[in-house]
Amino acid sequence: MEGKLLELKKVSKIFYKSGILNRRIVKAVDEVSFDIGSEPEVVALVGESGCGKTTICRLILGLETLTSGDIIYKGKSISKWLRENPKDYRKEVQIIFQDPYETFNPFYRVDRLLSVAVKKFGLAQDQSTTKKLIFESLEAVGLRPKELLGRYPHQLSGGERQRFMLARIYLIEPKLLVADEPVSMLDASLRAMFLDHLKEFKRIGISSLYITHDLNTANYIADRIIIIYAGKVVEKGPTEAVINDPLHPYTKDLITAIPIPDPKKRWKEKIEISKIKLSERINQKGCYYYNRCKYRMPKCETSFPPEFEVDGRKVSCFQYE
Ligand SMILES: Nc1ncnc2c1ncn2[C@@H]1O[C@H](COP(=O)(O)OP(=O)(O)OP(=O)(O)O)[C@@H](O)[C@H]1O
Ligand SMILES: [Mg+2]
Repeated sequence: MEGKLLELKKVSKIFYKSGILNRRIVKAVDEVSFDIGSEPEVVALVGESGCGKTTICRLILGLETLTSGDIIYKGKSISKWLRENPKDYRKEVQIIFQDPYETFNPFYRVDRLLSVAVKKFGLAQDQSTTKKLIFESLEAVGLRPKELLGRYPHQLSGGERQRFMLARIYLIEPKLLVADEPVSMLDASLRAMFLDHLKEFKRIGISSLYITHDLNTANYIADRIIIIYAGKVVEKGPTEAVINDPLHPYTKDLITAIPIPDPKKRWKEKIEISKIKLSERINQKGCYYYNRCKYRMPKCETSFPPEFEVDGRKVSCFQYE
């Protein structure tokens, strides 16, 4: 296939919060550009709470309208997809949320949730094929169809629900899976299981945009990493390069904050960072990371660094000018 699967071109989303005391503008996503290639790959979008990750997902899914920029899927803008072939787009681009309750109707039993998807996307023409597809997809994620079918979503454990979401992906076979913090509520073994399925998806031709605040899991699963800070992409490149040789001061800080050598100490630092509101931490005129940056220079206070290319990687920092 030629061209990119997905391209975000200077995508921005501004929310206008109205309130008597705090009427204000939130630039949730600020001229974000990145792409997902035509060959299956896993791309991780990494950033801390409030940096715009979920908003980016919602924009890709068409659940939110763009303030500016464009999102192109297979060469065609998604607003056009949703106007002209909404069903195709909905089949090809699937999402898994952190909380699977956001995705499905709680009043439908598990079998109905799957058979509705089969019907909606025309995956099978008759009852027996429908049943076969449903059984196969549940078994692919280690769920026992006989035990599961007939139950309601709330009668599944958290791990079963997340597996069920994966089964849905095996069933629907989208081209792109957008996974918004899918493992942050799972324990370590379920987390590894989930991430291994993303690898398997890649093998069968499904790309993933894996969204997380956790560089460890991004390192485990992703081919490429995009680091985002306060709605802006600050660095992007192949996973190994970003992890072993981070360029942007924020990426460097994130990597030293990975809680390995002294978990208690690191954890404390992390909590202190997130106590301050993101908007207060941002230097609004120049580089958003200015207030936290160890390497800041005078010009960083007044102008936002453009993207510089360093060894095939992109980084928004004046140190690399
Ligand atoms: N519908 C909305 N109306 C107003 N502001 C919003 C809306 N949705 C998101 N925001 C704001 O946009 C910013 C980005 O939010 P978003 O949920 O995309 O962040 P996130 O990176 O997903 O955070 P988290 O890691 O906590 O899930 C936040 O400041 C948030 O308060
Ligand atoms: Mg989020």
